Amino acid sequence: MEGLAEARKRLAQAQRVAVLTGAGISKPSGIPTFRDAEGLWKNFNPLDYATPEAYARDPERVWAWYAWRIQKVREAKPNPAHHALAELERRVLARGGSFLLVTQNVDGLHARAGSQNLVELHGNLLRARCEACGKRFPLPEAFTPPPLCPACGQRARPDVVWFGELLPEGAWEKAEKAFAEADFALVVGTSAEVEPAASLGRIAFASGAYLVEVNPEPTPLTPLAHLSLRTGAVEGMEALLAGWS
Ligand code: APR
Repeated sequence: MEGLAEARKRLAQAQRVAVLTGAGISKPSGIPTFRDAEGLWKNFNPLDYATPEAYARDPERVWAWYAWRIQKVREAKPNPAHHALAELERRVLARGGSFLLVTQNVDGLHARAGSQNLVELHGNLLRARCEACGKRFPLPEAFTPPPLCPACGQRARPDVVWFGELLPEGAWEKAEKAFAEADFALVVGTSAEVEPAASLGRIAFASGAYLVEVNPEPTPLTPLAHLSLRTGAVEGMEALLAGWS
């Protein structure tokens, strides 16, 4: 496959690599996606669970849903695709290149796989944020929702970005800069439907980056990609890194 050989060559020579991941990369770890056939939004209305209004309306119900998701994440393990991205980072940095992994995922699996230069655009399920003083803190292994702030004792919410909310301070600027400057951009496991994350692939392409997508399904990004590997993340990362000297 000409495209794959070319992509491997480009990746092996790339100096500035930017990666965007979505829920699809964690599916092999047993974490459900959102918009797939069996995705979360097929069984749960995001307007009832993933908006500030939903939380204000029924914080117990929202916390019960997040406690269930947190349990699934704690039981999950990083899969070979997560580990491949941590390895790719090490190889690019080892030859003096720059690398940034931007994830929409809130499951913490990239960090557990060893990725260092990481931006969690949508927050992290394993942290809570105090509704009164704003303090962020890790959630204990076992906790009865809602968790209370260790600093001021007030109720805390999941430290994730809900629909209609702003991204964490500085996260977007860092992500946008990395994709605008990239010479190789890789987009893995996202439906590329949710903004602003979905724009990162287009920003990289417009700036002249070599754009590769890994997804079993086509997405709005597919027409732009120099190579769109119609495979799962594990197989796609294996194919991209194969033969790397
Ligand atoms: N490997 C790679 N991709 C896969 C795999 C796999 N094994 N299985 C499914 N996919 C792809 C699907 O084809 C789909 O395009 O993963 C994508 C998952 O898309 P979504 O469920 O929409 O998840 P994502 O793109 O991460 O959603 C973005 O939307 O609901 C919000 O905040 C939430 O961060 C999330 C954001």
